[in-house]
Amino acid sequence: KNAFSSLMKPIKEFKRKPGFKITVVGAGQVGLACCAFLLQRRLAKELVIMDIQYERAQAEARDFNHAAVFLTDPKITACGDGVNTKDSDVVIVTAGVRPGKKSRLEVMHDTIKIFKELVPKLVSFSPNAIYLVVSNPADVMTHAFQKIGKIPKHRCFSTGCHLDTARFRYFIAQRLKVPTTAVKGFVIGEHGDSAVPVWSGVQVAGACLKDIVKNPGCGPDPEKWAEINKEVTCGGSSVSSVKGYTNWAVALTAVDVVAAIAGPYGRIMSIGTDMKGIHDIEENVVLSMPCMVTPSGISHIFEIPLSHGEFEMLHKSAKILFKAQCELGL
Ligand code: LAC
Repeated sequence: KNAFSSLMKPIKEFKRKPGFKITVVGAGQVGLACCAFLLQRRLAKELVIMDIQYERAQAEARDFNHAAVFLTDPKITACGDGVNTKDSDVVIVTAGVRPGKKSRLEVMHDTIKIFKELVPKLVSFSPNAIYLVVSNPADVMTHAFQKIGKIPKHRCFSTGCHLDTARFRYFIAQRLKVPTTAVKGFVIGEHGDSAVPVWSGVQVAGACLKDIVKNPGCGPDPEKWAEINKEVTCGGSSVSSVKGYTNWAVALTAVDVVAAIAGPYGRIMSIGTDMKGIHDIEENVVLSMPCMVTPSGISHIFEIPLSHGEFEMLHKSAKILFKAQCELGL
């Protein structure tokens, strides 16, 4: 009650409907970029920024709150211990150690230390949330999250090769001078050095690239399309070797996945979860394949046709990731 209340004649009490609640763990460059895009796209009715540096998270939340008038009044709070994250619908995990000039797999032992403390806490507050793991190495960390948090594979996945796929489509579109959306195709396997661009399935404006270009990306390739494979796998390091990290593309990738979860329709994206049984993969290993992302998480995995070479590359990627997973000793 205040002096202004006398102007407000009550008719019926207003209670805010509980809306889509999103927690972003890690107030670093990636986490904050996720927050900005989530808010700008109106995806979060409620946003929690969680970071062990609580005061910093609080200042970031305050900074966003000052823009409430431009963002249709989302509820934005900060926390250090996880309490505010209770009953989140989606949790985006960006906490971890930056690869910088190292490979993604090289930082795994540092990031797992953080996960061992963090995951049980998050899961105790939001046992039914969908967990989207962005922390690198994203696939191995997703495996760790599924294992430590006992979260089923349809509700815990990595942004995985959705980013590599975006880069792949961009580089092809640049060469062909067409809009990126006109290029359809996927990168599968590891989000990292052993990623597999599926050239056999690339379509541009409805035409199969392989019917028009000779051996794109593999074999004797006179037009050197295989250079794109390198551009895709080195995409992250070409940025982070200069600025120390990547954040914009990966955050837009994560937010695109959240938009698919927010629904109402499913979308097919190359994201990472346990792929045992797909393309004869025998182990419980997390890597990317096209998946249908829905409001309940992953509803289907698409075992897309692969050329013999792509199949071999996928198995090589699975082997590398399985070895890394085993090194965690979970
Ligand atoms: C990248 C980091 C996020 O590829 O792995 O940009």
